[in-house]
Amino acid sequence: MSNVTGLQGRHIVLGLSGGVACYKAAELTRELVKAGATVQVVMTEAALQFITPVTMQALSGRAVVTSQWDARTPNCMPHIELSRQADALIVAPASADFIAQLAQGRAGELLALLCLARPLERCPLLLAPAMNREMWAHPATQRNVAQVKADGAVVLGPAAGDQACGETGDGRMLEAVELRDALMAFFQPKLLQGRSVLVTAGPTFEAIDPVRGITNLSSGKMGFAIARAAAEAGARVTLVAGPVQLPTPQGVQRINVQSARQMHDAVLPLAASHEVFVATAAVADWRPAEPAGQKIKKDGSGRVPEIAFVENPDILAAVARLPAAQRPFCVGFAAETEDLLRHARAKLVRKGVPLIVANHGPSAFGQDDNQLVLVDAAGDQPLPAGDKLSLARRLVAEIAARAPKGATS
Ligand code: C5P
Repeated sequence: MSNVTGLQGRHIVLGLSGGVACYKAAELTRELVKAGATVQVVMTEAALQFITPVTMQALSGRAVVTSQWDARTPNCMPHIELSRQADALIVAPASADFIAQLAQGRAGELLALLCLARPLERCPLLLAPAMNREMWAHPATQRNVAQVKADGAVVLGPAAGDQACGETGDGRMLEAVELRDALMAFFQPKLLQGRSVLVTAGPTFEAIDPVRGITNLSSGKMGFAIARAAAEAGARVTLVAGPVQLPTPQGVQRINVQSARQMHDAVLPLAASHEVFVATAAVADWRPAEPAGQKIKKDGSGRVPEIAFVENPDILAAVARLPAAQRPFCVGFAAETEDLLRHARAKLVRKGVPLIVANHGPSAFGQDDNQLVLVDAAGDQPLPAGDKLSLARRLVAEIAARAPKGATS
């Protein structure tokens, strides 16, 4: 079975310290189990005030461990047993007090003891802080967070927003799905660590008048999946997105545009500061030459308006034409309805790019699954069909192998 989630078969120890955000740990458990992980919940005394072990046991399918004196562990050393079995230890919520304990290397409770006893090189520690904004901003907390990071912990969030106490600010625990995605990303190989990727995604919208326009059926899913996969692989990612409602992948910087010209004007100045450019967007080839200033009205005569078109700039070709020192490694997409490979190869030449990814437009647009063929000077290489995120990860691996470091195409 393919490991789409990256969590299939992983054993995660989920620690809960005290905080209202414990309710989100219930949903996180479900999400992790759904993604194929096994989850062992460990709770502190304080966490027991917020959610019951019954709930956590029901969701994880495993008895919750709360004490270092738990005699159910055969050798009576749960801190050793649990940490040796885990692929990762995530504490969500991680309270201010819990982070302070970690910063000092204290081991007064099972969860802190577990963090201290884990084999550093094998069992990563991820923390999802949750606390009031003043507690988060306090110099003592910030000092402790800096210390636990220096000791190797990965800190996820916190987010800003409304807090249970009625205040608004930094300190909200990330949502369950965000933590799940962060954990998935954590397990991806860091093939693009320290590198930079610019992606275009989605359709464009070309105005006819203030309320009408021309667009296409691109959903943006493939481009967003590529941006996500590149970020998971450790890259700094900028995503220039046409009009789509998709959520921005974690860690990705997004720039929204509408028209092809706006996309062109956003991309060109960014191209030289990125090592890889993936043009996934379905950019309109033409736009109305002169969009009407007011809504075009039917006049009852039966006459239809005549709309003249002009060609849009080709963003990919423009980036591929940059001087070598400014040119990222360029990857184009070809969405065709017929004669896919011939058209894709023609694009490779016409646009002057080292790699074109071919897909069948009608079966790709808007779908969750896709089928890709890599077309380059060496030949055609079909990738196994799959969901767009799996394909994006595969494509990112291909790009990482092909794009020269420090890179020009
Ligand atoms: O031949 P076509 O122009 O459809 O090639 C598609 C590829 O070129 C895609 O990678 C698309 O993002 C890119 N493209 C572009 N600017 C355009 C048209 C297409 O970047 N105006």
